[in-house]
Amino acid sequence: MGCTPVHSAAQGCSMSVMGDLTMSRVVPSPLPQSQSTMLSILWLLLSFVVSLLGFYVSISCPHGKQCQRALLSNNDIFLHCNSPGAQWYYFLQDGTNWSSPIRSVSNIETMPEGSILLRSPLPSQTGMYTCIDKKGIQVVQYEIDFQDVGTLHITHRGLGQAPLQNETLSLGQKELIFTQWEPWQDCNRCGEPGERKRLGYCYIQEPLEKPTPCQLYLGSAILWSNRMRPEMQIEACHVQCKTSDVKNVFFDNFELSEESGSAWLTCPFGSIYRPVIWESNSTPLTWQGQLSGQDVSTVLDPSSGGRRLQVFQPAIYRCFVQQEFMARFNPKPNLDTLEVLLREEARQQQEARETWKEKDSILQKLKLMLLVGTVLGLSGVLLKLFCSSQSKRSNQVLLVK
Ligand SMILES: *[C@@H]1O[C@H](CO)[C@@H](O)[C@H](O)[C@H]1NC(C)=O
Ligand SMILES: *[C@@H]1O[C@H](CO)[C@@H](O)[C@H](O)[C@H]1NC(C)=O
Repeated sequence: MGCTPVHSAAQGCSMSVMGDLTMSRVVPSPLPQSQSTMLSILWLLLSFVVSLLGFYVSISCPHGKQCQRALLSNNDIFLHCNSPGAQWYYFLQDGTNWSSPIRSVSNIETMPEGSILLRSPLPSQTGMYTCIDKKGIQVVQYEIDFQDVGTLHITHRGLGQAPLQNETLSLGQKELIFTQWEPWQDCNRCGEPGERKRLGYCYIQEPLEKPTPCQLYLGSAILWSNRMRPEMQIEACHVQCKTSDVKNVFFDNFELSEESGSAWLTCPFGSIYRPVIWESNSTPLTWQGQLSGQDVSTVLDPSSGGRRLQVFQPAIYRCFVQQEFMARFNPKPNLDTLEVLLREEARQQQEARETWKEKDSILQKLKLMLLVGTVLGLSGVLLKLFCSSQSKRSNQVLLVK
C-alpha cells in the first residue's frame, strides 16, 4: 500500500514539523545598535540550541507499511522509523543495487531512535528507503521521488501566470502527465495583504490506474520532457490575526560579500513546506514583486521556497514563519559608517547603561533556558536508567518467585 500526498491523511502517510521550538519572547525589539554584539552571542547560542533540538520536516509511515511520496530535492527531510538501532537500506531508482547500511552516504545521518535525516537530497537519490529493525524485520519502507527543485516552475495567480498544462505521453498507453497539488500553505501575513504558496509534484497516471510520482513511474528510464518538473504556485491572501504572544526571536549581523556585493540570509525555522515572509522597512518582499521584476533589490531563493533571501543593500531585514516573527538581520556597519557610529556610540553608551539591566535579564533567561534544557535532558536519561533498573528488578523478583 502506498500513500500519495493528496490521500495522505486517509492512508496514514503524514508530514509534520519536528522540533518546533517555541520559547517565550527572548528579546524585545527594536533595539539600539550597541546591543548587536550581545545579540550576536545570543544568536550563536540560540542557533546552537536549535541545532541540538533539530528542526526538520518529517515524513512518517505506519508500522509495517510502504509509503510513496514526492518531495523536493535540496530541502532537508527526515524519514521516520521508530526502532532504535535500526538499519536502513536503499535502492536507488537509477539502477544502483541495494546498498549496504546507509551509514556510508555522506548526506544521510542515522538517528539513535531509528530515523534518518537526508540533508539536501539530490534528485538522483530518488528511490526506495527501507528501515529494518534489529531482528531483521522490515519496519517501514518509503518510496521517495526527490523532484529537481532546480526546475521548479513558479507561477503567481495575481500576475495571471498559469501553471503547467496536463499532457499525454505516448510511452505505450496514453499516460497522463500532470501536477498533483498539495493543499495551500497558510497565508504568510495576517491583518494585511499577504501571499500563500502551494507545491505541486509531477505525477504520471495510466488510464484507470493510481498516479505515481514521475521518476518513480519511469524507473531508470529517462524522459526528456519539459513537463517533468515540480511546481510552486503563489496567490494573494488576507486573513485575520490570531492573538499569540509566543515568539521566536533571533538576531544576526550580516555583511555583504565583496565579490558578489550581496549576502544570503536564512530564516530560522523556515522551510519550503511552510509559509515564510521577508520584510524590509516594514515592506513585505513578495513573490509578486520578484516574479514581475519590480523588486530587484532582493532575491527570494526559489529552491528553498523563500527561506533564503539574497540582499544587495545593507538594510534591516526581518522574517516571519507561519506569521510568527522569527528573526531580524542587522547589517554589520562598514568602515564608512564607522565614524558616524563612533559618535553615536558615546550617546548609546549612556543608553546602554540604562538598558544593561534589561540585557542582563535576557542573558539570565537564556542561561536559564539552557539550564532547563540540560536538566530535562539529564533527567530523561536518569529516568530511563531508573526505569530499566526498575524493570530489571521486577524481572528478578519474578525469577525468585
Ligand atoms: C546488481 O544487480 C544486477 C542486476 O539486477 C545483478 O546482476 C548483479 O549481480 C548485482 N550486483 C551486486 C553486487 O549485487
Ligand atoms: C489534469 O489531470 C488531473 C489528473 O487526472 C486532473 O485532476 C486535473 O483536473 C487535470 N487538469 C486539467 C486542467 O485538465
